Amino acid sequence: MCYSVYIDICKGYLLYAVVVYFAVKVFYFLSICTKNWFERNPTRNVNDNFKTPTVNSFADTKQIDSEVDKEENEENEENGCLPALPQHLQHIPLEYRRMSHNDMVDASLKFYQIMNQRRTVRHFSCDPVPIEVIQNIIRTAGTAPSGAHTEPWIFAVVESLDVKQKIRTIIEEEEEINYKKRMGKIWTTDLKPLRTNWVKEYLTEAPYLILVFKQLYSFREDGIKKLHYYNEQSVSIAVGILLTAIHHAGLVSLTSTPLNCGPAIRKLLDRPLSEKLTILLPVGYPAEGCTVPDLKRKDLEHIMVKY
Ligand SMILES: Cc1cc2nc3c(=O)[nH]c(=O)nc-3n(C[C@H](O)[C@H](O)[C@H](O)COP(=O)(O)O)c2cc1C
Repeated sequence: MCYSVYIDICKGYLLYAVVVYFAVKVFYFLSICTKNWFERNPTRNVNDNFKTPTVNSFADTKQIDSEVDKEENEENEENGCLPALPQHLQHIPLEYRRMSHNDMVDASLKFYQIMNQRRTVRHFSCDPVPIEVIQNIIRTAGTAPSGAHTEPWIFAVVESLDVKQKIRTIIEEEEEINYKKRMGKIWTTDLKPLRTNWVKEYLTEAPYLILVFKQLYSFREDGIKKLHYYNEQSVSIAVGILLTAIHHAGLVSLTSTPLNCGPAIRKLLDRPLSEKLTILLPVGYPAEGCTVPDLKRKDLEHIMVKY
């Protein structure tokens, strides 16, 4: 008798547990459905305020965009999260002209031939270079892509002989230690064919020095810190374009990375702590009778793999 009552009580508990289990499952399922529905159907109907811009409706949508921006910015400010770029950035038609097959092959071959003439030059003429050319070169570098369009670069252009001399002193002092102590036998041996050492006349001979700083972060107008994603890669691409622009303008340069000189040069040029010196380029004309090492470049088959 007692035993069957005990079994009945257990059955009751079991049934109760099964019912509770399924009730929780149903509740969970309903809450997920409701959440998804609200996400897909926000209280404010975006379509009432924001029309997808067509080519001819950009002027109309500018006003609408800024109203939507304001409203959404207020919402996001409350959440403490705002994109660094405008919330409803316009998307405009791409300016693009498709080239014919032959033109493309022609243009790419010609450009390769031009770029294949680029050389690192270590002996510069003092002849002046028009500042407009330097400005255009830097404008060109500034067209580089960057992580989330953060443009994490600043190009310091030095023309003053006094500043160039101070930079040279900093670099030569450090480079002497680099060559004698820090770089080691293998590195200095590898550099011997290039005939480089710690004496850097080009730092005062070249009419301009361009010092490329990468910005680790910056501050938005509202004072919020702006993170610079992939700043290293972005600046490297910008420097590649800078070198291409220098060559295209008929000038020469020397890609250099002065080891251990960054902080002193940053202080000299009064740049903030958020900036790091990445590359220093003297830019100008080659000195009369200038020579370059007779280097060979790898063939296509050694630099390209096709799958
Ligand atoms: C990241 C980097 C750092 C370099 N640093 C120096 C340098 O400190 N001093 C120097 O004389 N050349 C420097 N060079 C230039 C290379 O030696 C040169 O690019 C290489 O020898 C190939 O020659 P080319 O540029 O004429 O093709 C550097 C190049 C790169 C890409």
